[in-house]
Amino acid sequence: MSMKKVMVIGAGQMGSGIAQVHAMAGIDVILHDLKQEFVERGMATIQKNLNRQVEKGRLEEGERDAILGRLTTSTDLQNAKDVDLVIEAAVENMEIKSKLFADLDQIAPDHAILATNTSSLPITEIAAATNRPEKVIGMHFMNPVPVMKLVEIIRGLATTDEVYQAIEDLSRTLSKTPVEVNDFPGFVSNRILMPMINEAIYTVYEGVATPEAVDEVMKLGMNHPMGPLTLADFIGLDTCLYIMETLHDGFGDDKYRPCPLLRKYVKAGWLGKKTGRGFYVYE
Ligand code: CAA
Repeated sequence: MSMKKVMVIGAGQMGSGIAQVHAMAGIDVILHDLKQEFVERGMATIQKNLNRQVEKGRLEEGERDAILGRLTTSTDLQNAKDVDLVIEAAVENMEIKSKLFADLDQIAPDHAILATNTSSLPITEIAAATNRPEKVIGMHFMNPVPVMKLVEIIRGLATTDEVYQAIEDLSRTLSKTPVEVNDFPGFVSNRILMPMINEAIYTVYEGVATPEAVDEVMKLGMNHPMGPLTLADFIGLDTCLYIMETLHDGFGDDKYRPCPLLRKYVKAGWLGKKTGRGFYVYE
């Protein structure tokens, strides 16, 4: 199954990164979002990333222009009518995703695979909104997408081997390393990462240490590139809370209860880097 044309839904941090790596791999990409200003912001991010590569002498200007030439923008879902693959990176809301997948199922050609970049929602439930659950799969990229090597590929209950193989092959084409996992809350990445972040927040909440101290311990002691609270700010505290709630609901186990301090920050609108304030203040 060759991927010649891909639609990426959602032009935020994840969607624009996903679009960029596909265009860099020679694939035509439609970057879709609800409003033109959203897709333009996503395109500006991609342009900035590519310009930095040119400045560093890693990319020729001509190559940059060719990559940008493979990207088109869309605010009309009907543009999915001739794609081989859709990768959805919209908001983490089951109702919105189910509606999107039901619509895409009507619009996209029969052979098209419908993938979701969800960080924790059940692939099987998203697939159930379509008449092609065998062609629905999780393709979970890590932030920042152009830098991080992992693609966590999640099989839904009905996903076929052929579809899994196509997505694994595509991930390698993108110069990423695919890892296969099954469909359980948080998959592998967030089932392990988020409880660690949540525990780091508890250590601050209980007065064990300051955010700076917690991050230093994990950076210098465990060789993590970022401390867990810096990482939480980078991911977005709303996303962290949402994933913890998904784990808590999905397993019904109190070990996944979100820290009250995390809830408080989200209620205050302190969502991390994107709002200028989380565990740290950003200029
Ligand atoms: N977009 C594109 N490129 C970026 C970038 C971004 N947002 N941020 C950094 N980079 C690039 C830089 O340009 C630089 O590239 P070159 O080597 O080509 O110059 C490279 O990444 C390294 O950047 P820096 O030297 O500025 O900084 P660093 O060495 O500290 O690396 C980092 C930055 C890669 C983000 C590193 O700190 C890191 O790996 N952090 C942890 C990231 C992580 O854990 N991500 C997973 C989050 S969880 C997730 O995404 C899943 C989920 O469901 C929540």
